[in-house]
Parts: sequence; structure tokens; C-alpha cells
Amino acid sequence: LDAVSVIAAKRDGCELTDEQITWIVDRYTRADGVAEEQMSALLMAIYLRGMTDREIVTWTQSMIDSGTRMDFGELRRDGRPLTTVDKHSTGGVGDKITLPLAPLVASFGVAVPQLSGRGLGHTGGTLDKLESIPGWRADLTTAQLYSQLESVGAVVCAAGADLAPADRKLYALRDVTGTVESIPLIAASIMSKKIAEGTGALVLDVKTGSGAFLSSPDDARRLAKTMVSLGTAAGVRTTALLTDMSTPLGLTAGNAVEVAESLEVLSGGGPADVVELTLALAREMLDAAGLPDADPAAHLANGRAMDTWRAMIAAQGGDPDAPLPVAPHIEVVRAPTSGVLRSLDAMAVGVAAWRLGAGRAVPGAGVQSEAGVVLHAKPGDTVTAGAPLYSLHTRTPGAIGGAVAALDGAAVISPPGSATEDDSRPLT
Ligand code: URA
Repeated sequence: LDAVSVIAAKRDGCELTDEQITWIVDRYTRADGVAEEQMSALLMAIYLRGMTDREIVTWTQSMIDSGTRMDFGELRRDGRPLTTVDKHSTGGVGDKITLPLAPLVASFGVAVPQLSGRGLGHTGGTLDKLESIPGWRADLTTAQLYSQLESVGAVVCAAGADLAPADRKLYALRDVTGTVESIPLIAASIMSKKIAEGTGALVLDVKTGSGAFLSSPDDARRLAKTMVSLGTAAGVRTTALLTDMSTPLGLTAGNAVEVAESLEVLSGGGPADVVELTLALAREMLDAAGLPDADPAAHLANGRAMDTWRAMIAAQGGDPDAPLPVAPHIEVVRAPTSGVLRSLDAMAVGVAAWRLGAGRAVPGAGVQSEAGVVLHAKPGDTVTAGAPLYSLHTRTPGAIGGAVAALDGAAVISPPGSATEDDSRPLT
């Protein structure tokens, strides 16, 4: 076997053999005989040619085999085995759902291991958001993760370096070679990590719309189907919801501002769309855990979810009572005209938050906890000329111009009753 023949086979539209896939993923991960430029060429050939179901299964298995698998089978509480359920979102703008969801589901006695990532580009990272809580640590050892699952139930932490290391290398390469938006590669990337993690059940939140990786609903549906069949074949009870990411979730996109909004939800309030999605995903997860009659809304109202949040934050060194950081510079952008806000483009808001310092342009760079965008209106709301539309939060006032430019044309406002659905698309 050699890299050139594998690349040429995929370039010419042939189906790769199991042996070819296993060999190239293994050798690339170990930097033994497959160069970065060769894997780049293969990824582009996969992007253009696609993969058969069998190829996707083998590619995913090879990524799982590149590292170690975790096993939650030994977890116990009061002597009884614990059921594990995880949730994964394909990412979006203002998607803070993991923050209220993990403690909410865990408050029913289910273990929720949320191995999460950091933000890259316009989508935020769950760990970046939680790090705005003073003292909170993302890095846990496997022993600490197991122990917190047994005691608190909910854990949100960084994935260990040995969980599907092939994905770490491949994802970084895809990011710089224009090969992220490939259904087989996204499905294998996400599912290799989830299967290696060892969760018993998994609920996928697959996003569609301008702020999602795959904006078309058909592509998102195809991605969801591919991931559900990979999970099911690996013995993980897997379901998926297809949810909208054409406009940001809730009224915040950034770090501390999203934590603050999550705390509102855990206190029984918060924006309707965030509450609705949190409850829909919680019901799926509780159903998968064998608790179809559980009522998650009750645990938001009675403080049980908040109690678990406080325990989860404290177990990872955070102070749940500490004030969240507030940006020293807040610029208010006002509505240019009066009318109904027809649409508000998620991608534009994500780029603005990123430029304000909430995200990073290169892996490993720092982020500003205080940075982000706070929305004062959502699609369907009536706005008045001169009233605040967004507040831009940052530590670096020089970033405000770039954020304002990103938001240019993002909000479409028209007089009540004057626009049809099609007229309401953002003008670019
Ligand atoms: N998230 C992942 O983990 N991998 C992808 O390829 C895309 C989104």
C-alpha cells in the first residue's frame, strides 16, 4: 500500500477498500509514511467524490482505533449502574444549550458526560463560555471525570488527547484545506469521538440555516441520517433533531453573556427559543435513558436543575456565586427604521461576536470572556427607529468597527404586513 494509489483511487471515483482506509488513517495519525499534502489531497478527493456507507463506517472505526475508548459501564450510584446520555450539536451561533441541558438532565439521576470543544471561527465553544466563570477548569483526568459523573451526574470538560487523535489532526487539516463541509467527513469526525467516549445513548442536534456548517435542510437531514446509522451500528442508542440556525439562539452570542442567559433558563426564565430547545433535547435524552415520563420543565421551575448546575460548577473549581466578567466597552447599534424585524442573520452575528474577541482565528489563541453580542430584538419583534438593536461587548474598542461591518445588512426591518416570507431574506 502507498498513499498515492489510495489518493488516485478516490480521485477516480473508486470505492476504497477497508485495508486502504485503515492503513492511511493509521499511518497519517502516526506521521509514518503519509504526508500532510497527501492527506490534504485525499480529503479533497473525498470532499468531491463522497464516500459509500461502508467507507464511512470503516473511516469512522479507524479514527476510533487511533486512540483509546472510554468505558462508563462501571459507573455506580448507590450501588446501581448509571445510565449515560450525551448530546452533540453540530454548532451554531448563541448555542449555549449544553449549559442548562447537562445539569437539567443530570438532575433526574442520569449521567451526562459532555466532552466539549473550543470555538473556532464564527461558532462559539462551550468550554470558552464556561471559562468565564472564575476558577472553573475544563481539564479533568479520566478518574476525575468518572468520579464527578458518579457524584454530580453532569460533567462538561475537554476531551482527552487520546480520544480519537486522528480526528484532531484531520480536523485541523480540513480547516485549512476547504474540506470541512463534507457530510461523510463531518459524520465520521463527530461520531468517532462520541463512540470512543463510550456513551450509552446520544441525542444529536443537527443545525440547518445560515449559521450552520451545512445550511441546506436536505444536507442537514443527510448528515443526521448518516450519524444515526453510525451510532446505531456501534451499539449507541442514537436519535437526531433537525433545528433552525438561521437566526441566533436566544439573545446572546459570546462567552460570559451566554452563561448569564443560561442562568436565566436554569432559574425558570430565559428566552423562549432557548427554553424550548433545552426542553426538547432534555425530553429526547430522558426518553433515551428510559425515563419517558420525566418532566424537565418542572426541574427548571423548582430549582433542581440549578442545584445540579451549582454542584457541577463547584466540582470543577468554579465559584457559582462569583460575578461574571463585564466588558469595559459596550457599543449600542440602533435600528435605522421602524417596523417588524423580519430576519436577523445568524452568521453575521457569529462573525461580529468573533471579531469582538469572543472567538479565535487560530487554534490555541486566547478569547475574551467579556466579549459578545447582546440582541435587543428577535425576528417577529416590532422595532422603533433609534431603539437599540444590538449591544457589542468587548475589551478592545478597536474591534467594534469590524463587528459593525459584519452586522451590516444582517437585520431586515420592514413595515408591518408589508413583507412576504421571500422578501424577508437578508439583503447582502
Ligand atoms: N464538529 C466536529 O466535531 N467535526 C466536524 O467535522 C464538524 C463539526
